[in-house]
Amino acid sequence: MEVPYSYLLDQFSDPEPIFNDMRALVKTGDYTLGKPLIEFEQQFAAYFGTAYAIGVGTGTDALRLSLLALDVKPGDEVITAANTFYSTAAAIATIGAIPVFADVDDNFVMDIDQIEASITKRTKAIIPVHLHGCPVDMHKILSIARKHNLHVVEDACQAIGAEIDGKKVGSFGSTGCFSLHPLKNINVWGDGGVITTNSEAIHDKLLLLRNNGLKNRDECMVYAYNCRLDTLQAVVGLHVMKTIRWIIDQRVKHGAWYDKELSHIQGITVPPRRQNMRYVHHNYVVQAEGRDGLLAHLRARGVDAKVHYPLPLHLQEASNYLHYHQGDFPAAEQQAKKIISLPVHQHLHEGQLRHVVTAIKEFY
Ligand SMILES: Cc1ncc(COP(=O)(O)O)c(C=O)c1O
Repeated sequence: MEVPYSYLLDQFSDPEPIFNDMRALVKTGDYTLGKPLIEFEQQFAAYFGTAYAIGVGTGTDALRLSLLALDVKPGDEVITAANTFYSTAAAIATIGAIPVFADVDDNFVMDIDQIEASITKRTKAIIPVHLHGCPVDMHKILSIARKHNLHVVEDACQAIGAEIDGKKVGSFGSTGCFSLHPLKNINVWGDGGVITTNSEAIHDKLLLLRNNGLKNRDECMVYAYNCRLDTLQAVVGLHVMKTIRWIIDQRVKHGAWYDKELSHIQGITVPPRRQNMRYVHHNYVVQAEGRDGLLAHLRARGVDAKVHYPLPLHLQEASNYLHYHQGDFPAAEQQAKKIISLPVHQHLHEGQLRHVVTAIKEFY
C-alpha cells in the first residue's frame, strides 16, 4: 500500500471551480492588488481573529518584512530556534541582522527557559517558531519580551490553525507570519505568504514595504520591495479557505490517532501534548530509536516518511560565520538524529494510517 506525504493531486482533483474564478479575473485585468486579494486578506484576518492580514510573496517575505517594519537594523540580534526551517534564519540574516539560536524542548520548539540567557544589549526581537504545527507557549514568550522590551514575530508558517487556549497562533506577537507554499495547511499553486497584525501602524508600514514603498501611484514614501501576493494565487487561497476547518480537523484527528497507537511502541517517543494547545500536525513528528533503519523500512513498505530536518541550523555551512560548534544545542542535535515525520495529511484514509502503524510495529 502507498502512503504518500503529499496530497496535492487529491486536493485539487477538480480544479474547474478555481479555473472559473480565474477566468472571471482575467476578464477584469485586475491582476495586482486585485479584488480577490483584498477578499482573501479579509477572510484570513477573520479566521485568525486579527485586525489585519497582508498578503505577501512568500512566508520568507512575511518574516523579513515584519522585521523591517519593526525597525530591526543591521547588527541587531534576533533569537530563534536552532531546529527551524532555513528561511527563519535567512529572513534575519538577509536584512543584515544576526541570527542567535536557542535550543529546543521535547515538543521540537524553542526551549523558553534558555531564551533569557541569549539576550544581550543588541537583542531586538524573538522569532518563536511553531514548528510542525506545535505551538510555542506564547504567554511565556510575551512575558519575556515585555520584560526585556523586545519585539515578537511569530513564525507560524507551519502552524495555520494551531491554538493556545482557543486563540490562534500568529495572533499573539507584533506580527504572525504564514506561508501558503503548496504543502502548507492553506496552500496556493506556487508561492505565497501572509502577515497578520493587530497594529494599524505596522499594517500601514507593511503595505508600503510590500509595494515599492508606494502610498499611491505617484508618491513613494520609502525605497522598498515588490513582494505582493499575486491576485491569481489569492483566487486559489479563497477556495482553500472554504475547507480550512475540515483540513485542520482531519490533521488533528490523524495526529491524535497516531499518538494513541504509537505511544505503546517501545522505541518510539511521542512528544508530550499540553491540554491547552491545539496541535495541527503540519508534520507529525516523533522520535524513533534506529531512525534511519525505520525510515528505510517504512519506505520499503510504501510509506513516504521524511525527516524535518536532518541538520540543525547552527551546523549548516550557511551559519559558519556565526561561529557555532557541535554540542552548542544538544537537544536539537540529538533530535535531528531521531526525528521522523509520518504522513498525516487530510486525504489519508484509515487503512493507510493503520498500514503506517503496522509497518512501525513490524520494524520494532
Ligand atoms: C518554519 C518555516 N518558516 C518559514 C518558511 C518560509 O516559507 P516560504 O517557503 O513560503 O518562503 C517555511 C516554509 O517552509 C517554514 O516551514
